[in-house]
Amino acid sequence: EIAQLKDIIAHAKEYGFVYPSSEIYDGLQAVYDYGAYGVELKNNLKRLWWETMTRLNDNVVGIDSSIFMHPTTWKASGHVDSFNDPMIDNKDSKKRYRADVLIEEKAARLEKEGKLEEAQQLLAAMGRLLEAEDLAGVRDLIINEEINCPISGTSNWTEVRQFNLMFSTQVGSVAEDSSTIYLRPETAQGIFVNFLNVQKTARMKVPFGIAQIGKAFRNEIVARQFIFRMREFEQMEMQFFVRPGSEMEWYQQWAEARVKWHKALGIPESKIRTHDHEKLAHYANAAMDIEYDFPFGFKEVEGIHSRTDFDLKQHQEFSKKKQQYFDPEVNQNYIPYVIETSIGADRLFLMTLCNAFVEEEKDGKSRTYLKFHPAIAPVKAAILPLTKKDGLPEKAKEIVDALKYDFNIIYEEAASIGKRYTRQDLIGTPFCIAVDHQTLEDNTVTIRHRDTTEQERVAISELHGKLGEACSF
Ligand code: GAP
Repeated sequence: EIAQLKDIIAHAKEYGFVYPSSEIYDGLQAVYDYGAYGVELKNNLKRLWWETMTRLNDNVVGIDSSIFMHPTTWKASGHVDSFNDPMIDNKDSKKRYRADVLIEEKAARLEKEGKLEEAQQLLAAMGRLLEAEDLAGVRDLIINEEINCPISGTSNWTEVRQFNLMFSTQVGSVAEDSSTIYLRPETAQGIFVNFLNVQKTARMKVPFGIAQIGKAFRNEIVARQFIFRMREFEQMEMQFFVRPGSEMEWYQQWAEARVKWHKALGIPESKIRTHDHEKLAHYANAAMDIEYDFPFGFKEVEGIHSRTDFDLKQHQEFSKKKQQYFDPEVNQNYIPYVIETSIGADRLFLMTLCNAFVEEEKDGKSRTYLKFHPAIAPVKAAILPLTKKDGLPEKAKEIVDALKYDFNIIYEEAASIGKRYTRQDLIGTPFCIAVDHQTLEDNTVTIRHRDTTEQERVAISELHGKLGEACSF
């Protein structure tokens, strides 16, 4: 299974999807860059999400708020005080670990050995200690459970400390406390502080939503599993403001809508599930994860949270500005409740890539291809003249020109047609369109379908319509 993740990472690099950041300097941990096909795939995913949110729901509008925000924002939201991970250092290897992850890994090992009850007891004990903020207790647990450092193999641990995940920087030229600002760890707060601006200027009535796509930053200590957990990543969040008391209804409705969206992208029923949180964050009265079965197990892709009126109330208190909405239907002022849908664009990308990666054995031949839904495939069609002469390239380029305004198209004339098909399979192009001598006579081409490798003859005049239909979502 881990081998499969390795294959996917290697494929992503080799075929222009994802590279380690600043690779010539040996990379920067948990930071990645997207290549020619990666950026197309990511843009397609973001556009689909954006269109689903803001166009298909006439009561959801968009916003683009800044990464930098007034520092009080993060006091009000609770991030300064409690956006922490418990960290522990090993004195021999000088390596730092997340204490909770060390314990979780031990529990996973116990589970593998069939000691289910022991594993659950261990996790429950950790949960109790973290809830009580008993960090000395967490350290004792690590020592009593004989959890050793994966590098040095020793249990020479320091005390456990809380480590805030926010990155900070300075505005202006003087480094003083008041000039410290944070890089946002979530996009949501940019929506909360603009709630009334948007409500008034877009003339929205509760219930309504605000959607945003943007970068977020977290100083993740356990940064593994490729683009699953990054230090710089993109979130796609939507805050839906509702009348107090109606939040559970909307929570269910959004959870269903979001699961349906993932399935429409081609995620099979067996690979997706929801998981209700047993332990709720201080601001939530219900929360669930939508999980995907990654090569390293079922893991969160998207969170659906019922955040009550916590955030708006906090901003009202800290800013001394009323965050109320007058609801003409019930003739009342209130602070709305909020349902949040929150997904990482990069994590969605990884899910899509894992889901599309196919290594197939057929008739004694092996073939690797990416079976993306055509709506998100980086390249929709490759136009391939059979030879480089007899006017075939010119004819093929005419087809490119007719399609390129509406679809991302590749033109390729080098190498054998078989090699060119293979290359398109590897980047997930759903259609290869071959231009041959017959094309010059009757204006028809061959379409070769990625998933079946079957071919059909169609008129050039039909291409635009066929691509449009296949690539719609
Ligand atoms: N506003 C709520 C919020 O930020 P979260 O569960 O911390 O909730 C939401 O994050 C989503 O953002 C996650 O489901 C995941 O897809 C993505 N995400 C969070 N941290 C990430 C990281 N370090 N790298 C990549 N994606 C991340």
